[in-house]
Amino acid sequence: MKAVGLERIAKKLTSQEIRTLSYSGKILVFPTKHFPILNLIRDEAEQLVKSNFGDHPELCHLEKPDHLAINCMNLRKEFRMSAAPTKIKKALESIGFDLGNEKVYGGMLDLRVAPGGDSQIGTDKVGSFGRLPPHRDTWASNVSCQLNWWMPLLFEPTEQSTLAFYPEFFNRNVENDSIDWNYLKVISKEETRQQPTATATSINDLGEARLLLNVEPGDLVCFSGAHLHSSYTMKNEISRFNVVTRTVAHQDYIKGIGASYLDDHHAAYRPLKWWREIDVANDRWAIGDFLGKNEKIR
Ligand SMILES: [Fe+2]
Repeated sequence: MKAVGLERIAKKLTSQEIRTLSYSGKILVFPTKHFPILNLIRDEAEQLVKSNFGDHPELCHLEKPDHLAINCMNLRKEFRMSAAPTKIKKALESIGFDLGNEKVYGGMLDLRVAPGGDSQIGTDKVGSFGRLPPHRDTWASNVSCQLNWWMPLLFEPTEQSTLAFYPEFFNRNVENDSIDWNYLKVISKEETRQQPTATATSINDLGEARLLLNVEPGDLVCFSGAHLHSSYTMKNEISRFNVVTRTVAHQDYIKGIGASYLDDHHAAYRPLKWWREIDVANDRWAIGDFLGKNEKIR
């Protein structure tokens, strides 16, 4: 078994196992065929996509492109207001990630749309990150125990609509442009980069290291926010829909447990208000206390 890379999971793990494997670089895939409760989230999300975009949502960028931004925003809002957030606890419990026994903080639970067409068209307008070149989420968050959760919807992801990983760079230094990136400037619109990414030079160095994520709709993927990953950034014929969220285990954050902290540059802030406690008792996702105050770390 390779130390870093994809691992398909067929039986329930524990929260500890999921976290430890992810921090070590495993990209965990929980298939719906072994964890059918994941379909609770998938069904809810897909119904909303179809009710907003009809039977061919993958072509939504071609139909009424002027309305795309508003429709996407509506869809994301409806998803947050839907029953999906109340089902994610059950879905995560089914794979062993038990929110009941440990304090876990969550990022926004989102139904993200990456519109087809030119890679950046509509990106800002739909309030989504759209398609991003290679990056580690931790360049922006500065939280090394961040876990990312990703679920494709509707279609089997193709090369153009799946995530790509660069496993051999999980433990290697990658040049990036986070040194002058500041989330406060993103909020005030002074900064147009939604998050830091690898520099052009380092992208050239990545070469053939890309691992395409081969999964099916509804499968849940969990990986460390420190994994270098990207989306397809070229012109794309279809729009992509996926559910995404992130979590931080409180005990690991406090103890400084997580993925290795590499690279010469990270953003100057640790925006701890990105994370809110999950209200497990009331089945409400990430609306509790913040993980902490936003911190300037350099
Ligand atoms: Fe990312």
